[in-house]
Amino acid sequence: MQTIRVETPSAKYDVVIGSGLLETLAQRIERAVGRLPRRVFVLTSPEIWALWGHSVLRSFSEAPLVLFLPAGEQHKTMKNVERLTREMIRAGGDRGSFLIALGGGIVGDVGGFVAAIFMRGIPFVQVPTTFLAQVDSSVGGKVGVNLPEGKNLVGNFLQPRAVFGDIDALGTLPDRELRAGLMESVKAGIIRDRALVRFMEEHADAILQREPKALERVIAASVRMKADVVRRDERESGLRMILNFGHTVGHALEQATRYKAMLHGEAVGWGMVAALAVARRRGTITGAQMERMETLIYRYGPLPRLKASAARVMAATGSDKKNVGGVRRFVLPFGIGEAGVVEDVTPDEMEAAVKYMLARARVEGQ
Ligand SMILES: NC(=O)c1ccc[n+]([C@@H]2O[C@H](COP(=O)([O-])OP(=O)(O)OC[C@H]3O[C@@H](n4cnc5c(N)ncnc54)[C@H](O)[C@@H]3O)[C@@H](O)[C@H]2O)c1
Repeated sequence: MQTIRVETPSAKYDVVIGSGLLETLAQRIERAVGRLPRRVFVLTSPEIWALWGHSVLRSFSEAPLVLFLPAGEQHKTMKNVERLTREMIRAGGDRGSFLIALGGGIVGDVGGFVAAIFMRGIPFVQVPTTFLAQVDSSVGGKVGVNLPEGKNLVGNFLQPRAVFGDIDALGTLPDRELRAGLMESVKAGIIRDRALVRFMEEHADAILQREPKALERVIAASVRMKADVVRRDERESGLRMILNFGHTVGHALEQATRYKAMLHGEAVGWGMVAALAVARRRGTITGAQMERMETLIYRYGPLPRLKASAARVMAATGSDKKNVGGVRRFVLPFGIGEAGVVEDVTPDEMEAAVKYMLARARVEGQ
């Protein structure tokens, strides 16, 4: 078991990674945040509750009230936020209530947003059950929902009181979800942790076979990286932007395929390939470094084939909300284990990178 301390200007909390956390969840939460109030809500999805609800319930002397959010990005909406908050009111929720978000990044983002606005804010903990949520979305306090106009356009920053990432829960995760989540750890390594890159190169079989010790090592390193970045820049005014490595083109791919053809981590995987191409042309990485990083990305694939045309992907990058004032903002690696933000990527550079990515997708995509 590993505990990582997250300290930001607005909050301090622990991220606990290990086995057997769900069965002891209530006691662990009370140890971290103090006595639980009478009205405790658990937000989860029906599938996750069917798999893990019995483990969670075992630790509560008084059963919490369970709220459901159906699985799928299409349910990360204001409409569901309204429904959930109304259900909480009708169930007797008040300013003293407490919320547990048990699930993947979608449950965590929606749960955190509900906690941020219900009665102007109630405390919550994250209990991430996907790899992506354990290494990334449960840490750092970004919460929110999508609009028809785009992803994550409404939200807030609210740090959880604690995070409990149970590695056992990953045992029921579909392989594709695991691999997509691992892209976030590949990202973590490339931008800030060269030792993590090496570990993921050397222990790929153990990681993909879900060997607990190997998973714990990768998750803890990824969380430590994110915690360090968030500690320095909670509100994404500078350093935190490096966490968007792979996101400029990744978001464009998600948008161009209407969030249906690929998982977020898969889109980030291809987005990292495009970013590597920009970095190579600018000389911030060598050819050998590029090959090594690309090999690592494909090792944790397969990434899906890409059907969108270069023109379509290019058009979608123009509407990326991270391109402040139309500037083509890109996170580029500087060698392996270091990254920075550049704001002057030209449309030509962008196009060359997108074309490179599409060509690689014809070979590596499945
Ligand atoms: N807040 C942040 O900082 C941040 C960072 C990255 C991503 N995100 C968001 O996270 C979301 C994606 O999260 P995700 O990849 O976890 O997807 P997800 O929440 O959709 O979960 C993926 C699928 O796995 C299922 N599932 C969850 N846990 C399971 C388990 N233990 N066993 C079996 N099935 C399980 C879910 O029901 C769902 O069908 C996106 O909306 C993205 O915008 C947020």
